[in-house]
Amino acid sequence: MKKKKGSGLVYVGMAADLIHHGHINIIQEARKLGKVVVGLLTDEAVASYKRIPLLNYEQRKSVIENIAGVERVIPQATLDYVPNLRKVKPDFLVHGDDWRTGVQRETRAKALAALREWGGKLAEPHYTSGISSTDLIKYAIEAGITPTRRLKRLRHALAAKPLLRFLEVHNGLSGLIVENAIALRQGRKVEFDGMWGSGLTDSASKGKPDNSVVDVTSRLQSLEQILDVTSKPILVDADNGGLPEHFVYTVRKAESLGISGLVIEDKIGAKRNSLFGTDVKQEQDTPEDFAAKIRAGKRAQATDDFMIIARIESLILKQGLKDALKRAHAYIEGGADAILIHSKEKTPDEVLAFCKEYKKFKNRMPLVAIPSTYSIVSEKELEKAGVRIVIYANQMLRASYPAMEKVAQSILENGRAFESEQSLMSISEVIRLIPADPLK
Ligand code: SPV
Ligand code: MG
Repeated sequence: MKKKKGSGLVYVGMAADLIHHGHINIIQEARKLGKVVVGLLTDEAVASYKRIPLLNYEQRKSVIENIAGVERVIPQATLDYVPNLRKVKPDFLVHGDDWRTGVQRETRAKALAALREWGGKLAEPHYTSGISSTDLIKYAIEAGITPTRRLKRLRHALAAKPLLRFLEVHNGLSGLIVENAIALRQGRKVEFDGMWGSGLTDSASKGKPDNSVVDVTSRLQSLEQILDVTSKPILVDADNGGLPEHFVYTVRKAESLGISGLVIEDKIGAKRNSLFGTDVKQEQDTPEDFAAKIRAGKRAQATDDFMIIARIESLILKQGLKDALKRAHAYIEGGADAILIHSKEKTPDEVLAFCKEYKKFKNRMPLVAIPSTYSIVSEKELEKAGVRIVIYANQMLRASYPAMEKVAQSILENGRAFESEQSLMSISEVIRLIPADPLK
């Protein structure tokens, strides 16, 4: 392609999380056409379509800046090339020809239309197949995830994405499902950002009530099963954390396993599940004592990455919005890394009212919600209200239990298993379900 008189600039957009020869090829082709300006996708832009980048924007920028032929690196904040193209007005936009098909087709069409405004051209070198950053990342995960790397992934994700979605796990198998589930939502791939180690469902899967009869040691053993076969961040429900002098040990143990954070609820006395609400006696801690427990936990942790999330039960216990807000202030003062506002109403109204007031806080920590009873609310609505992590706290267990019950019933009623076969996985599928190394 011939050089054209104009700005002399050539624009290349890339995520460049893990650089490989495909990126170098594009840059080499681009430099033949003029001075190369790389529009480097911001962390938020990368996270919006693929995954949270392994390296953050500044780290990726320092790599790209030092590649021969790159004149300048500027941030590209959206997947859409148009805003940067209009700013730079390059003579050429260079992109691998892979975007002619698939979800990027529309982005390409918009970029082409913008280039026409000043007579810019599109150059499309042949896409280097057989290699991608996504593959490289997969290989890196296969090589194993260390507790330290996993632990950090939550803070990294919070910095890169507006809303993280976590789903409940209660054993290795449910962990594997959350690890690998992918769906298309409006043409975009969506997956879970992490896992919730629920007290309710860990207890239920052991056939025990959610009243702390399953002790911390046993809870951590279940979590180890999950940690063994997954790589995503895990947040763990630690009930009320127990006595502060015990809580510090739980913090240290959880952190050493690679758990990203513990959620503790501001209740004292006999443990009762929050979803009982005021139907059973549940007592709330004083804001002062609970803040002191948070402080003790924060002092106990070894890294800056571990998170202690304070869960406010004021709405559950009908203590009102004012009390919830007062406690949020106190817990943030105490060092909480995030605030979880819990509710058992059928609508999200009281949680959204809390969010509205919380937005006015000067010293705000990420907000977490558990829409179990108000499951009508959408991720979009929660994100708009300022929620940063949504936890689907029990759905995996609730899905499996009725399915198992139905089969047990059917075998009893029919005197054989034949009638239940249609709702069962085949035995060969079960055998193949779990590969020798589940992370491969
Ligand atoms: C859990 O999953 O154990 C929780 C959330 O603590 S809830 O059941 O809503 O209290
Ligand atoms: Mg719980």
